[in-house]
Amino acid sequence: MKMMQIYAFDMNCVGHINHGLWTHPRDQSVRYTDLDYWTDLAMTAERGKLDGLFLADIVGVYDVYEASAATAIETGAQIPVNDPLMPISAMALVTRSLGFGVTVNTTYEPPFLLARRLSTLDHLTKGRIGWNIVTGYLDSAARSMGLERQPDHDARYDTAEEYLDVLYKLWEGSWDDDAVLRDRQAGVFADPSKVRAVRHEGRRYRMEGIHLSEPSPQRTPLLFQAGASARGQDFAGKHAECIFIASATPQAARPIVDGLRRKARDFGRGDDALRILNLLTVVVGRTEKEARDKLEDYRRHASVKASLAHYSSSIGIDLSKYGMDEPIAEMTTNANQSALAAITRQAAKPVTLRAIIDQMVLGSRMKPVVGSAEQIADHLQKWIEEAGIDGFNLARTVAPESLRDFVDLVVPVLQERGLFKADYAQGPLRQKLFGGESGRLPAAHPAAAFRKT
Ligand SMILES: Cc1cc2nc3c(=O)[nH]c(=O)nc-3n(C[C@H](O)[C@H](O)[C@H](O)COP(=O)(O)O)c2cc1C
Repeated sequence: MKMMQIYAFDMNCVGHINHGLWTHPRDQSVRYTDLDYWTDLAMTAERGKLDGLFLADIVGVYDVYEASAATAIETGAQIPVNDPLMPISAMALVTRSLGFGVTVNTTYEPPFLLARRLSTLDHLTKGRIGWNIVTGYLDSAARSMGLERQPDHDARYDTAEEYLDVLYKLWEGSWDDDAVLRDRQAGVFADPSKVRAVRHEGRRYRMEGIHLSEPSPQRTPLLFQAGASARGQDFAGKHAECIFIASATPQAARPIVDGLRRKARDFGRGDDALRILNLLTVVVGRTEKEARDKLEDYRRHASVKASLAHYSSSIGIDLSKYGMDEPIAEMTTNANQSALAAITRQAAKPVTLRAIIDQMVLGSRMKPVVGSAEQIADHLQKWIEEAGIDGFNLARTVAPESLRDFVDLVVPVLQERGLFKADYAQGPLRQKLFGGESGRLPAAHPAAAFRKT
């Protein structure tokens, strides 16, 4: 049995996925503005040998529900939301091996600046940074950036492809490996003949410049992606190394997982190019009864209203307009197409608001898995086997209690069963996850074509 990978999924805000739980008396997420909230979280994740701590991000507000941002603001549903990159260098300082994933949207800032920010974090984390490539799904974000609405769904991915070309040129091709000499005697820091300006002239981006950072341990950060529409899968099969999916059952996940691996093979990246992780909420206790009691306790704090506000923006449909038993028809919107398809395509009967709300046990559209550590471990094992995935992205509930519970109760059981590592592998994040000689991208990845040395 292969080792599973596990990430703690979080966001620099109060309500991330399981909404309303910040009102629980033990929840600490209201301290998201304190640096020690983040450093404590990172140390807990590393104590549990988790592969990484992953930070989501959005650059707009959830204003589709009732055509207003009021519900999201009132319930703290991902607003206020702070910059996800800022806490990472502090978390890197208090850990040695934990990886970091950070979400940055490609639609609204020039690639040249993002190239340097991520290189800086790759240096400061000693090669432990991963980037979740998102193109956004919020018109509110587009309006904040001076656009009328966001670009069309597939066009966002086309633009992201070009954006990545610019980044790959900068990260992989601007500085040779032996460009930096640090020769104190000769007074030569770097050899100018081994540093070059990269050029790009495309449909959307045009630039010429030398990458501002010297080569970092991974050069290109580990690449994550989370879109699962047809166009999103194509993009992921070509570029992504780790992919987040959000399927409700292993049966629903399997075709997506097989399709993604097939895509990566079609792009010539081989059979071992991807690590696929499913989003999961876990409520664990020392016994099943304790876990069920905990769920009931948490449940009293969950906010369905916040969840509907979040979900309406995710799928681009104002759910407040539907009656409880009115069917929600299959349709295409310009928002998150895979999230919408997840409810409209896989249901045996037409989906209704009542059915969606029934799922929202802890204030998200994802039903939690509840049980003793052994029961949770059984569940994870079954998922890996039946869906063919590589691991999980754990959504928080009551923070940081839910991460501590997972680390203290579930991790030891997984380790005993030989399903989870007892310690970290050596090297940068990419090397830890994929092995190999270095933390650099493999030759079969499209970024490698931009290398000069
Ligand atoms: C588990 C998971 C996490 C995601 N995290 C973010 C995020 O932090 N920020 C964001 O803008 N989009 C996020 N997304 C949305 C995707 O990046 C993507 O925009 C969305 O799924 C629409 O693409 P699609 O229509 O190809 O599925 C996430 C999606 C999933 C499944």
